[in-house]
Amino acid sequence: MTGPAAQRWRELQSGRGVPPEILARAVASPWVHDPRDFAAPAEPVDTPSRRAALDLLGHGGTVLDIGCGGGAGAFALVGRATHLTGVDHQQDMLDVFAEGARARGVPHDTVLGRWPEVAPDAGEADVVVCHHVLHNVVELGPFAEALSAAARRGVVVEMLAQHPMAWLDPLWVRFHDLHRPPPATTDDAVGVLVELGIRAEVTSWEREKPPKQDAEWVTRRLCLPPERVGEVAAAMEEIPPRPRMAATLTWRTG
Ligand SMILES: C[S@@+](CC[C@H](N)C(=O)[O-])C[C@H]1O[C@@H](n2cnc3c(N)ncnc32)[C@H](O)[C@@H]1O
Repeated sequence: MTGPAAQRWRELQSGRGVPPEILARAVASPWVHDPRDFAAPAEPVDTPSRRAALDLLGHGGTVLDIGCGGGAGAFALVGRATHLTGVDHQQDMLDVFAEGARARGVPHDTVLGRWPEVAPDAGEADVVVCHHVLHNVVELGPFAEALSAAARRGVVVEMLAQHPMAWLDPLWVRFHDLHRPPPATTDDAVGVLVELGIRAEVTSWEREKPPKQDAEWVTRRLCLPPERVGEVAAAMEEIPPRPRMAATLTWRTG
């Protein structure tokens, strides 16, 4: 059974889809993440998410990183984490994760597959982190429940304040005459957690580094061919820059 917040999340997220006729004309998938965009920094950035996870780890413990990408979330905990498990449905992300863990000398594992379906393979950890994945998820209830079930001490989720692609909505109108519903926000996610009986502590903050926003990448996201990159670059001048506001959601499980 799902409540109104989960239903709202489902509708807002489903409204972010690309109509099949636009997708059919795309030369490259607008959805696949490039591991190079998610490389973990050599020195971890001091963020509320890192501080919350270090607090849960205390003197040490194991970590599960769900939707690990290049491992930015997990590798920020090196020194305190005794073992890292990266879960991702892209093998190329797991390859970058494993390479990063080896370079840092941390015991690690990887699990290939979609959360929450692969939760049984991932097992439990002291701390579960899940950064910048919620906005890829439609069924947030089972996704978040599985995060909680896997965490012996607590969960730390980081997300942008609103759907990461919402800043491109004016360009979808301009290039495809596609009008989207409003984006799902942190408040919407917190509402779903409340329906699950989870009271998350929420910290809002501004990212130092703006997320990726170059014209070539935006052209691909808009399902346009590379020869239109100049036109896209000009159109980007007319919209506000990509927002940097993020939120850390933390809850204890044990
Ligand atoms: C935006 S990236 C964030 C990567 C990393 N957590 C970070 O903060 O840099 C999202 C990652 O989650 C993965 N992903 C998205 N949905 C997933 C799911 N349901 N199960 C497993 N991985 C997922 C993607 O393949 C991608 O690597």
